Amino acid sequence: MSEAQRHPFLQGLSKHRGTPPTVIVIFGASGDLTARKLIPAIYNLGYDNLLPSDFYLVGYGRKEIPDAEFREVATSAIKEFSRRELNNDVWQQVVERTSYVAGGYDDPEAFKRLAAHIAGLEKKLGRELQTLFYISTPPSVFAPILLNLGSSGLASKYLGQPNHSKVIIEKPFGKDLASALKLNTTIRQVFEEHQVYRIDHYLGKETVQDLLVQRFANSIFEPLWNRRYIESVQITVAEEVGVGTRGGYYEQSGALRDMIQNHTMQLVALTAMEPPVSLSAEDVRDEKVKLLKAIQPLNLGPSGDVARAQYADGMMGGKQAPGYLSEEGINPQSATETYAAIRLSINNWRWQGVPFYLRSGKRMARRVTEIAVQFKRPPGTLFAESERFNLAPNTLSFQIQPDEGLSLILNGKVPGLETRTQPVKMNFRYSATFGSNTPEAYERLVLDAMIGDGTLFIRGDEAETSWKLYTPVLEAWAAAGREGMDSYAAGSWGPANADALLAANNHVWRQP
Ligand code: BG6
Repeated sequence: MSEAQRHPFLQGLSKHRGTPPTVIVIFGASGDLTARKLIPAIYNLGYDNLLPSDFYLVGYGRKEIPDAEFREVATSAIKEFSRRELNNDVWQQVVERTSYVAGGYDDPEAFKRLAAHIAGLEKKLGRELQTLFYISTPPSVFAPILLNLGSSGLASKYLGQPNHSKVIIEKPFGKDLASALKLNTTIRQVFEEHQVYRIDHYLGKETVQDLLVQRFANSIFEPLWNRRYIESVQITVAEEVGVGTRGGYYEQSGALRDMIQNHTMQLVALTAMEPPVSLSAEDVRDEKVKLLKAIQPLNLGPSGDVARAQYADGMMGGKQAPGYLSEEGINPQSATETYAAIRLSINNWRWQGVPFYLRSGKRMARRVTEIAVQFKRPPGTLFAESERFNLAPNTLSFQIQPDEGLSLILNGKVPGLETRTQPVKMNFRYSATFGSNTPEAYERLVLDAMIGDGTLFIRGDEAETSWKLYTPVLEAWAAAGREGMDSYAAGSWGPANADALLAANNHVWRQP
């Protein structure tokens, strides 16, 4: 049997027969994200037989590129970036239906051409196509693209039917509250909220989705998941990479905008929200927004809730690594933080008095994202910390990446004739139980948008609520310039000013 006969996608059968025939239009088709993430995600969905049987891909960009060249670029992207090797038989089915439209993002005529192109595909197929627009451009052209999708009629195509147009919007979703509000206003002029899929790729990660399963499919956690038993929660999103070639972007962004306001806050929301009434997109997102709204405004004064720093020269993997201010494209007087730490207070029934500590930085000792829930110590009447009793607080940590899994620190008796104790660790590792070929975040997200499931996307009010919390911090930091900016050696676990956030409560950062 040939590969073509063996592979169900090639026989036109999709596991998702519910997905209507679809055309994905990528704005920013020659960009980095398209090559690194989007094309490989589409290919792997095809490989797993999850694309609708009638599927088209259209690249859109300013550059004039012939169809054949775009197809070649897409094929090279798979060879370079896909988690699975290129299978020509599978990819051929997509490539044959891949085309490219050149045009400006603010050019209404070009959008009419795009509309005619899609109508042409429908005519050839003899069926209607759901159109999924993927806006993967710099944010400066989000608004013109959205407005042109409106005026060309593409945004409202088949509205009222399940195959209505949908739009995925890449990050960054605004740079502060005012810009996020403005972007939401533009979106709402053109699309209804249910058509809109705002990306936060952390929600596509398996381990992030697993948070909901662990919390609500197990009965042992819920009784303990509150202020009576939990001492604090620490969320670490540490990266080894520096800014690399993205200096231009990063100078305008910084750790707070790039990682804390979006990815890290999603981890907070999923860890701390109340159980939703159902797993529907609206019920889950209602609970997330409710939680975000319960977070108290941050104290920006001395000994307040925020800390920031830049990496200085240091050692990474045995090699000298330059500090942020000497990186390519960085202003030597830059006041952009590469590390931010925050102490959150959630003022609701469940969490009052339990600090949530967040930190994220580039050029840190190790790439690791984890959520560590630290429980209160038992009364020390029987086992109090001493030379014989080495004790640690019970800590449940969700290892989001890498080495995905879950671990629990318990205290146990050291075997022997006298009673001595020592902390021990129980470990669950995804790779050991399920193997290591897990789908990439973008595969899940593209698939969900095609199906019309918004659970793993950010709702408009969710983005606004998070910006509302952080905009005063951004403003205060912009006004202070470099004053209050700490530094940390590249390859370390971060600056001293972040330790001070925890010291007030006698807490210390965990070594993940
Ligand atoms: C992106 C940020 O959103 O997330 C990058 O812009 C960062 O600066 C990246 O490196 C981290 O994503 P991941 O999936 O590698 O943790």
